[in-house]
Amino acid sequence: MALFISFEGGEGSGKTTQVERLVREFTASGIPTIQLHEPGSTNLGLHIRQIIKGRPWGSETISPTAELFLFAAARAELVSKVLAHQVTRDPLVIVADRYADSTIAYQAYGRRLPLDLVEAANRLATGGVMPDVTFLIDAPPADGLKRVGALQAQLFDFDMDGRGTEAQGRMDNESSRRFEEEPLAFHERVRRGYHALVRAEPDRWVTVDGLMSADEVFGEVWETVQSLDKFRAMRAGSGAAPETPLESLFAV
Ligand code: TYD
Repeated sequence: MALFISFEGGEGSGKTTQVERLVREFTASGIPTIQLHEPGSTNLGLHIRQIIKGRPWGSETISPTAELFLFAAARAELVSKVLAHQVTRDPLVIVADRYADSTIAYQAYGRRLPLDLVEAANRLATGGVMPDVTFLIDAPPADGLKRVGALQAQLFDFDMDGRGTEAQGRMDNESSRRFEEEPLAFHERVRRGYHALVRAEPDRWVTVDGLMSADEVFGEVWETVQSLDKFRAMRAGSGAAPETPLESLFAV
């Protein structure tokens, strides 16, 4: 069975940096690895990402229930087209930047949709495919939001310089702002949601202090990964480091 690892956290937690570093490290260890980002990583997922983040119809908001179904639809597609087929492969590491836990934290705790219904939507979308390990990069929301603010300012400067940014970058900038504009209380609820998930399933979760430097956070992440039986077995049996392009993994 593949080793499935996900990263979770609030806005500006720095988890994407960790995901990228971890993928590089696995590849260097000679283990085939795929990187996923939710919503996205399938054609439908990318379109849903544009709807959620790009707000193609302007400033009108999406209702919380519709938002839940959009995230769930993107996940259902990811599971049926990619994950369900890949989790049985060995050796393979799957590293996901957000997964079903985001929906519990954001839609149930953040948006206050009924927890049991969000859990049911998750069960339907994932078909029970869940990560072996989930890292929570945990930090007070105010710190993360400050980081995101700084990042957005940089992106804006970049645009104004006339050098341009990729459409995806602009979209993400737009979208982060959508969630970032939620009151601090929303982000506090999201964090409480994550803490409740950790308490409910302490064996799957590893909480890392997101206020540490990126190097320190990665040190803890890598130490945990090295202690995993599945990883040890893969490393013991690994030879060359074949790059595994996501497109080649789609089962159609
Ligand atoms: P993204 O650009 O991926 O931001 P991040 O780098 O923080 O992951 O945007 C994803 C946003 O969507 C983020 O604010 C969290 C939110 N989200 C949900 O509300 N529910 C979900 O199920 C997922 C996957 C993301």
